[in-house]
Parts: sequence; structure tokens; C-alpha cells
Amino acid sequence: MSKEDHKMRQFIIYRHVEKIYTELKELGYHDNDPLEVTDLTKLDQWHYCGTDAVDAVIKLLDIREGARVLDVGAGIGGPSRYLAHKTKCHVTAAELLPDNHRVGQDLTSRCGMTGSVKHVCGDILTTELGKQEFDHVISFQVILYVPEKPRLFRQLYASLKPGGTLCFEEFYRLRDVESDEEKAALKYFLLSDIALPTQQDYRKLLEEAGFQVTVHDISDSYSEYTYKRWSKFEEPEERSKHVRLYGEDLVDGWRQLYVTAKKLCNDFGLMGAGRFVARKV
Ligand SMILES: C[S@@+](CC[C@H](N)C(=O)[O-])C[C@H]1O[C@@H](n2cnc3c(N)ncnc32)[C@H](O)[C@@H]1O
Repeated sequence: MSKEDHKMRQFIIYRHVEKIYTELKELGYHDNDPLEVTDLTKLDQWHYCGTDAVDAVIKLLDIREGARVLDVGAGIGGPSRYLAHKTKCHVTAAELLPDNHRVGQDLTSRCGMTGSVKHVCGDILTTELGKQEFDHVISFQVILYVPEKPRLFRQLYASLKPGGTLCFEEFYRLRDVESDEEKAALKYFLLSDIALPTQQDYRKLLEEAGFQVTVHDISDSYSEYTYKRWSKFEEPEERSKHVRLYGEDLVDGWRQLYVTAKKLCNDFGLMGAGRFVARKV
């Protein structure tokens, strides 16, 4: 495993890929029980604001029945399944980590959705995407981890049909980093020294790849989300419930992540986010 894979895995360990099975058991499901997409949506969306964020993307891109959509960094397939269920489109769910890919495949199969959601495993930079394959490309909180963003955007551009659209939701830097504390928090959040682009940086990279770009700033909703998530997690009953299910180590790891996200988005006001909508012209 490369050093970068290792770092990503550390992060995902805090996600705890098997967590969803524990949660399903808590809800009374047995292993291999069939599932409905709607049973999963509170559990399988690994980005902020759950299916509301996916609904916003469906609306922004006007995703319709029969469309071919690529989901970059699909996690355990939550957004892909919800999108296919809601719009009757066909989704390719591309995910880097084999564990996430495996759980995603299992959940999709238990939802009876293997005909509409296809899972592929690998680094998006080296995955064979094909030329002019997709009507739309979507992605939620993934692009920040991809080191070669110019190459990524060129590849996504090539994979889209003429007039095709891309929408990704991503964190960005609102201003320069001003202290060691801010620098350390950002490094922890990003898993590395990789620079967090500003909105302007992203816009420029997309335009250089050939896209026509619009940006919707959603920094306020991220700020509210990170604050509410942190304050709920600080409640003693929440902690004891999570410790009972997952143990101290995982709970401390999640807490650290939630505290850091709250600091970056609220206390420091250093990190915001946007929905980037880009059209292939
Ligand atoms: C914050 S999670 C979001 C998952 C999913 N988009 C969702 O919203 O439920 C980020 C995901 O991106 C994946 N990822 C990171 N770098 C990637 C790459 N180069 N290629 C494909 N997937 C990647 C990670 O493994 C992880 O599952």
C-alpha cells in the first residue's frame, strides 16, 4: 500500500467501513436481508447534508431517466444508489478503496440495483473512463484528496459527451492560512500538506480543462452542519451510545475529526465550500 493509500485508509478507519452493518443490526436487520434504498440513506451518505445535497445536484444538472452518470469517489455507494433510485438513471460508482467498493457492491446488490449502479474500484486518475461516455459526472467531497487536479479535470472533460455536465461539491480555502494552529488543523483535515484550493483556484483549473463554470457558495450550510454535528457529538449520552457500539478509539477519532472541521469552518472561518457546476463546451 502506498503512503497516500495508507493515509486515506487511516481516515476511512475513522469512518469505519463496517459501521453500516452495525447500524443496520441496531435497526433490526439481519445479514443479507434485502434492503430498500430509503432504509440506507441516513447511513450511507458520507458527505454533509445527506440526500439534500444529492437532490440539489439532480436539480442543478437536470439529471433524467436513462442518463449515464459517473460518481467520482463513491464511498460505499450512497449517493449513486440514491441518484439511480430517484431519477432512474444509470450510475458508474468509482471508488479508490477496495473495502468501500466491496461494501458498496454488497449494499447495491441487497437493494436489487445491480442493473442501474455499476461499481468500479481504483484510483480515478488511472481508471479507464472511456471517451464521451457520460451525460453527467458528480462527486461529493472527494476532489480535495486527488493530488493531480488539472489531470483529473482533463480526464473528466474527455469522459463527458459534448454538452455534458459536471457537478462536484467541495471544501475550499476562504483566505490565507495565518497561524500554526490553522496550518495544523488543515493538515489533519486534508491528511497531508496538500494545498487546499480557493474557489478561484478551482474555477481556473476547470476553465483550463475547457469547462464553462458556475459556482454556488454553500459555506454557510457547511458552517452550520459542522457546528451542529460537533455539539451533538459532545452530548454525554451520544458518546456513551457510540462507545458501546464502536469503542473508545473510533469515537475519539471521530470526535477529533468533528472538532477540527468545526474549527476550520466556524472558529477560524478558514474553510468554506461550494457546488461547482461545469459544462463541456
Ligand atoms: C468523504 S468520502 C465521500 C464518499 C461519497 N462521495 C459520499 O459522499 O458518500 C471520500 C471518498 O473518496 C474516495 N477517494 C479519494 N481519492 C480517490 C481517488 N483518487 N479515486 C477514487 N476515489 C477516491 C475515498 O476512498 C472515499 O471513499
